[in-house]
Amino acid sequence: MRLLPTNQSDPNLLVGINHSDDGGVYKLTDEIALIQSVDFFTPIVDDPYMFGQIAAANALSDVYAMGASPKTVLNIVAYPINNLGPEILAKILQGSSDIVREAGAHVIGGHSIDDHEPKFGLAVTGIVHPAKFYKNIGAQPGDTLILTKPIGVGILTTALKQGLLTKEQTDQVTNVMKQLNKYAAETLTNYNPNAVTDITGFGLLGHAFEMANGSNVSFIIHNKKVPLLPETKELAQKQIVPGGSRDNHRWLKNDVVYGKDVSEAEQLILCDAVTSGGLLISLPPQEASAYIKDLKTNFSIQATIIGSVVEKKEKTIYIE
Ligand code: CO
Repeated sequence: MRLLPTNQSDPNLLVGINHSDDGGVYKLTDEIALIQSVDFFTPIVDDPYMFGQIAAANALSDVYAMGASPKTVLNIVAYPINNLGPEILAKILQGSSDIVREAGAHVIGGHSIDDHEPKFGLAVTGIVHPAKFYKNIGAQPGDTLILTKPIGVGILTTALKQGLLTKEQTDQVTNVMKQLNKYAAETLTNYNPNAVTDITGFGLLGHAFEMANGSNVSFIIHNKKVPLLPETKELAQKQIVPGGSRDNHRWLKNDVVYGKDVSEAEQLILCDAVTSGGLLISLPPQEASAYIKDLKTNFSIQATIIGSVVEKKEKTIYIE
């Protein structure tokens, strides 16, 4: 069911709600378009400072996925001030503002309400050239598919809530989530991607499906090449998988063909609902290894080739 009205005839509205892209884009002048996105959620880690960092990196990600520069953010806060007191909230806000500063943007306001369960996030405004932003569609047959962060965040954070992770494992998953997509996106400005999106709640395959389907192509993804956080597989084999990941797996089942040796646990991992995931980039093949080397050399970020784009076949995604 479509929940939003779609009467949008303004020619300056370059990306609106009838596109399922990462953010909305509105052209202000021939040089500048405004890009806006918002996200907020309940805490996924116990440490309030880290939660603030993750929430900010996650909210900023959509702006980076469109190749834009974030400029200003507004905080969205729901918080039980009488139960939890102001110190924890101050730490959440500090974590967030440290990441916003790293992004080169500014916190310019926000709104808070009293709520029994904490929720935090950001509304982000960025700018981009109206002819030079990335869409999540446009992938071309022959393109190489690149992923800039490992997956497994949903499975790992579910295990974290159950007290099953060591300190080291907790740090690993937290570090992945709080890492800005800024570096992956800014490095990409020297290349010519045909489509870009960020991996979040629909999981790798959900977002890959949107890209492939919207581009009228099919994707071949090599299961063994998809980078995973340590322990992801072991936990998935023990059925420690969030409901959202199972939902993704279910709604994608008619569009994805899994190879015979891809186990149920591996399928769920590929569909795992991610918070603050990496970029999925469809890049001309001759640029792929240079981009990966560039990112590794300048920012120590490990991007990985996970597959390729082919002409539209019967199904949208083939996992080999
Ligand atoms: Co997004």
